Amino acid sequence: MTSNHDLLDRRHRAVPRGVATASPVFVDRAQNGEIWDIEGRRYIDFASGIAVTNTGHRHPKVMAAAAAQMDRFAHVAFQVTGYEGYVALAERLNALAPIADARSVFFTTGAEATENAVKIARAHTRRSGVIAFTGAFHGRTQLTTAMTGKAVPYRTPGMPAAAGIAHVPFPIPHHGVTEEDSLRALAHVFKADMDPSEVAAIVIEPVQGEGGFYQAPLSFMQRLREICTAHGICLVADEVQTGFARTGRVFAIEHYGIEPDLIPIAKALGGGFPISGVIGRAEVMDSVAPGGLGGTYGGNPISCAAALAVLDVIEEEGLCARADAIGQTMVQRLHQFRQSNSLRPIGDVRGLGAMVAFELVRERGGHEPDPDATKAVTAAALDAGLILLSCGYYANTIRLLAPLTIADAHLHEGLDMLEEALKDKGMKAAQ
Ligand SMILES: Cc1ncc(COP(=O)(O)O)c(C=O)c1O
Repeated sequence: MTSNHDLLDRRHRAVPRGVATASPVFVDRAQNGEIWDIEGRRYIDFASGIAVTNTGHRHPKVMAAAAAQMDRFAHVAFQVTGYEGYVALAERLNALAPIADARSVFFTTGAEATENAVKIARAHTRRSGVIAFTGAFHGRTQLTTAMTGKAVPYRTPGMPAAAGIAHVPFPIPHHGVTEEDSLRALAHVFKADMDPSEVAAIVIEPVQGEGGFYQAPLSFMQRLREICTAHGICLVADEVQTGFARTGRVFAIEHYGIEPDLIPIAKALGGGFPISGVIGRAEVMDSVAPGGLGGTYGGNPISCAAALAVLDVIEEEGLCARADAIGQTMVQRLHQFRQSNSLRPIGDVRGLGAMVAFELVRERGGHEPDPDATKAVTAAALDAGLILLSCGYYANTIRLLAPLTIADAHLHEGLDMLEEALKDKGMKAAQ
């Protein structure tokens, strides 16, 4: 029988190190909130393939929709011959998104979605400037890496400095950046780097994903909307990680009561099948001439069928309300963990719906990040049977991304495993 160890060895010889894998586990099969590796070991999944399987692994409705589409055709390219699934998905998303008179276009990855949102904004405004935020993550293509607000490990040697892209500090008060500081920094960018009349887009994740699950304050987002409107700048809400019920709403931007101009989407939309897209105001979306948008695989028919089923499941199973319930359970347990002297020191605990995270800090009651403890806890969790992901501008955040369909028993089992991981040997090392 092939072992994880053997496959890891083969992987190291066959795959470049640039594709990092968080755990040395090779998957055999998965169902809803559980994963089994090729050695038969079972894990609870609190990663959801990085916020993709909000509807769980192999949701029966999603699998059936994909299988039915596979029986008809797998690919024709929407740019060659159309098919109803693409149009139906666009209609569905246009109706769901908080944008009046919306249009949708589909791609394959999140990076393509954010990159195309900028392309559309540039075409609409006929300007090139882009403003993004520190800690932001928008993808790994050259443009989206340049927009990403963390140099290591994303900027590769030889990448040119990102002309026309400026970063403003994302407001995180407990790390010393208030909302006012961020707005002041934006005003400095407008003075020093690019006049507002040169800016095509301000791109922001309503809740930063890879950056550490920091939520943009309500008044901050509202102020950005006002600034964008005043200067004719497109406000782009990157919902690649926050979308599709994760935060307790279909789109996180719904928490803010504002209309963005463009919303890049991906990840959970396909329930495990690759699909991404941009939803935007018709007037903005139609700025790109025919032939300027698309891609051979964009809006693949199997992925469109799966995505339509994902949207059904979100509605039928009340996954927005379920996200809130899961989030409450998690946050409550994390607060208990924070009180416990026998566990590693936990700093900030935060969550919007089931987008929940906590920080590991050097001292109880402090805010100084502890990236080593963070690595130790994710490793100990894996030993205990829990798949976890870390993240964060300061590399000290652990994010909890359980499928929204997870069984209660598995949710509690996963949290028990996390408690175990927090007390692991590291405590002794830390003393
Ligand atoms: C907010 C956000 N935007 C864009 C991306 C890039 O998506 P992909 O990895 O599918 O290219 C990610 C991926 O984590 C993300 O979290």
